[in-house]
Amino acid sequence: MERPLSAIVLAAGKGTRMKGERPKVLHELAGRPLVDFPVRLALGVAADPLVVVVGHGAEAVESTLRGLHGEGPLRFARQLEQRGTAHAVLAAKEQLAGFEGQILVLYGDVPLLRRETIDRLLAAPAGPLALLTARPERPTGYGRILRDAEGRVVRIVEERDCGPREREIGEVNAGIYRVEARFLWSALARVGSENAQGELYLTDVVALAAREGGAFAVAAEADEVAGVNDRYELALAAARLRREINRGHCLAGVTVVDPENTYVDVGVEIGQGAVVEPGCVLTGATRIGEGARIRAHSVLEDAVVGEGAIVGPFARLRPGTLLGRGVHVGNFVETKNARLGEGTKANHLTYLGDAEIGAGVNVGAGTITCNYDGVQKHKTVLGDGVFVGSDSQLVAPVTVGKGAYVGAGSTITKDVPEDALALSRAPQKLVLGWAGRRRLSRGQKKP
Ligand code: UD1
Ligand code: MG
Repeated sequence: MERPLSAIVLAAGKGTRMKGERPKVLHELAGRPLVDFPVRLALGVAADPLVVVVGHGAEAVESTLRGLHGEGPLRFARQLEQRGTAHAVLAAKEQLAGFEGQILVLYGDVPLLRRETIDRLLAAPAGPLALLTARPERPTGYGRILRDAEGRVVRIVEERDCGPREREIGEVNAGIYRVEARFLWSALARVGSENAQGELYLTDVVALAAREGGAFAVAAEADEVAGVNDRYELALAAARLRREINRGHCLAGVTVVDPENTYVDVGVEIGQGAVVEPGCVLTGATRIGEGARIRAHSVLEDAVVGEGAIVGPFARLRPGTLLGRGVHVGNFVETKNARLGEGTKANHLTYLGDAEIGAGVNVGAGTITCNYDGVQKHKTVLGDGVFVGSDSQLVAPVTVGKGAYVGAGSTITKDVPEDALALSRAPQKLVLGWAGRRRLSRGQKKP
């Protein structure tokens, strides 16, 4: 029978090297806070309870995770003073009182770990402890793995405590462990703080395991165990994740023209046969229908795009945007809380906010919904088949009935009935010969 499994995610550190007030683990990768990656991984392997150790910015970290996952198996432990990774694990002890079985320990700043790797760690031979190790191109900053003549893991030396020979070691500690609960608590009671940082290092537990039954190393890819300690590492991790996300979409039948320069949040859905051109940013709960085309440099936030629609280049779809099948939204068009029915077109230089727009509507260049009166937002309704001439303002609340026309350059402040023409621009005046007389009076030549 499988042993019970619980997890501890360490997320109390300040992240001094991030240089800022925000707790390190709340910095985001592809729209998701760092700490949420290990949390999802632990939930994915059904770890229960799952204890997140919080300290720096505890309230913010807790409320972010509660907002994402509700209560469930999630529990929080406070580490009031950050005295090292072993000290952090000890903070979770109370929440795990009486738990017998395996504990998966994950670091809140290691976001790219794959499920398959965790499965291999969990399947490692029985013993007090198993850990993930990797061989990154530059091992700088990581704890180094010391092995004996037989190749058995003996202990871990942190970068700051390394001698010159140890610094040469290429195999590093990923900070991910599977450890027997009973062994863990007994080992932690024996960890001291005789090291360069005067902290309680969780890595010392590995040395104890090596002596008391073995520490089993499971190899992982360097990229997936990369820790995020400063904003450059954050950017590197984001680039790796970006590649992976876009690869996933490509393999699912989406043409991502330039995967290095297309920014798609985790959780965005893109239908088969869709094309996403370079420079696009697709965030939050954005969903794109089959065969749609998102042209270069468009930004979509929580937007829904129907099948076969064409968006951009340079369009901005803000939250609450819902484009029907075959809609065209062109360059420099911004939408917010706007529904556009099937086949509707807004091709140039337009703002559509708080708008309910039917099918087959033509929104001319430069059309603006004036949805805000300085206090409240108001709604614009355009019925099916409406034609709005260029450079028109629709002063909300206002409704234009089915099939009606709004003449170019109009400011519409009153409802327009079905099939009517509304025209509010001043009639054009013609003064014949005016320009010629003016030139003459100034001694200018005729063009
Ligand atoms: C740690 C490991 C190192 C490993 C590396 C992998 C130790 C002593 N070192 O170093 O061997 O190669 O991770 O990325 O474990 N944290 C707390 N409370 C604390 C201290 C840290 O919750 O008091 C949390 C941090 O929020 C972070 C994680 O533990 O999520 C790791 O801490 P960090 O300071 O980044 O350790 P590293 O120096 O990266
Ligand atoms: Mg770290």
